[in-house]
Amino acid sequence: MKILAIMGSSRKNRNTEKFLDIFLDKYADKDDEIVKISLRDLDYKGCTSCYGCAKVPYCIIKDDLTEIYKLIESVDAIVFATPIYFNSVSGLAKNFIDRMQVYWSIKFLQKLGPIKEKIGIALINGGAFNEPKQFVGPELVFDHFFKATTCKRRILVEVGNTDDSPINKDNEKFMEFLDQIDYDFPENKTYKLDGGSIVNEN
Ligand SMILES: Cc1cc2nc3c(=O)[nH]c(=O)nc-3n(C[C@H](O)[C@H](O)[C@H](O)COP(=O)(O)O)c2cc1C
Repeated sequence: MKILAIMGSSRKNRNTEKFLDIFLDKYADKDDEIVKISLRDLDYKGCTSCYGCAKVPYCIIKDDLTEIYKLIESVDAIVFATPIYFNSVSGLAKNFIDRMQVYWSIKFLQKLGPIKEKIGIALINGGAFNEPKQFVGPELVFDHFFKATTCKRRILVEVGNTDDSPINKDNEKFMEFLDQIDYDFPENKTYKLDGGSIVNEN
């Protein structure tokens, strides 16, 4: 299996990147090929709404995402990690996700077939503790991201309270939470850890 791992935090090797790396350790098999990209290291801008993709079946902006599109079209799984910023995904992640509009255009404006089916896994972490609507914004953003990129199986893994309980391998609650996940992902599912309580729902 080929996996595209996307690190969507502005900070290197902090909660989001640790979440991604520890998750991949558990999810990926030895034979899997992982291509990891850090959005903070890429040079790209958000969608300019030029609708070039209404005429040609690709994004006409030429930047570091030009190569990434090829990955999105060829991988078997996307694991996308982001912190929550202002109740949404990070700005880096949002600009990246807006550029997936090309796949919406290909499908609905150009009436071409969808790209390869894959599994989509979003790893979302936020600093706030026990805030009821904390994950609603990112969930809606990923819903459209998964649809645009033809992720037929959709998994959300959500961790709150990172300000007081940072993500790392010594965080027992976090590690115990990851151990409860069924990494075969037989169905769409949301796994949530907040304030020490684990809430898993279909
Ligand atoms: C600009 C900004 C906005 C944030 N907004 C929220 C928020 O709305 N909800 C929340 O739970 N945490 C919020 N946080 C906290 C981050 O989600 C949290 O610290 C996260 O673990 C940071 O990930 P990192 O360690 O990879 O940078 C915000 C942080 C920043 C810098």
